[in-house]
Amino acid sequence: MLGDKSIVTKIIAISNQKGGVGKTTTTVNLATALAIIGNKILLIDLDPQGNASTSLGIKNPMRKKNIYQVMSEGFGINSCIALTEIPNLEIIPSIVDLAVIEKSPDQKRNSILKEQISKLENRYHYILIDCSPSLGTLTINALTAATSVLIPVQCEFLAMEGLAHLLNTLNLIKNTTNKRLYINGIILVMTERRKNLCIQVEEEIRREFSDLVYETTIPRNIKLAEAPSYGKPALLYDTKCSGSISYMMLTKEFLSRDKNSLYLSSQNLKNGINI
Ligand SMILES: Nc1ncnc2c1ncn2[C@@H]1O[C@H](COP(=O)(O)OP(=O)(O)OP(=O)(O)O)[C@@H](O)[C@H]1O
Ligand SMILES: [Mg+2]
Repeated sequence: MLGDKSIVTKIIAISNQKGGVGKTTTTVNLATALAIIGNKILLIDLDPQGNASTSLGIKNPMRKKNIYQVMSEGFGINSCIALTEIPNLEIIPSIVDLAVIEKSPDQKRNSILKEQISKLENRYHYILIDCSPSLGTLTINALTAATSVLIPVQCEFLAMEGLAHLLNTLNLIKNTTNKRLYINGIILVMTERRKNLCIQVEEEIRREFSDLVYETTIPRNIKLAEAPSYGKPALLYDTKCSGSISYMMLTKEFLSRDKNSLYLSSQNLKNGINI
């Protein structure tokens, strides 16, 4: 497929070095919602755990082309892209071997992903990179390649400390490998309205980071946790659950923040998909 010169690809790294805070769930469902309304999307699974690949029904990434081959074996990125069951949503799956890259840091390798992505020639409106829970070589590659970073935060004790750590890393990247990197936003996930601690942490994060924090929050919702075991994003597994509805609202807010290259397919709008 040739690139479309009118498309300016936005590359979003979904990152937080804290584990289990909703990075993959956010990446998969945001990617799905953007694709459903007509954006061409590439999801890069940059986590050796391969959770995003599993969540999108990629059953045997070992036998397919994958991101390890791109990062470590010199395969061209174009040849490692797999289709998903969702039109407009493509993926470069991950395999566990990717962990090797994390274990052998080498500054010369910090820009591999950026160089490879540059070969994609405006084929996608958005490239979403699902990061691993670390701030090692893989995440540095993601943040070096990215135009912006999206940070899911779980409203829990120590969330602020984790955020401070991440912001330091982002500053480091801005001062070295990616001067134009900016924070797209902070998303509060797994919120629980009846939990005082959650309410307090939300207030504290909003006070500290004000406009950076998305208005939309993602509630704790069992359907979001069930969907990956069916190899489906929640948005397909149960369209009407509170988690899916929240991710649709989040996508709407994401697009409204991304004013410069807002892309809503007129055809899909006509079809009545109203996010
Ligand atoms: N809003 C939610 N409600 C209920 N469960 C959720 C929600 N978001 C995520 N989960 C579940 O919580 C767990 C962690 O979520 P997820 O895998 O998205 O986090 P992560 O930050 O990508 O984790 P890791 O750091 O290991 O990559 C998963 O089992 C997921 O299904
Ligand atoms: Mg993950």
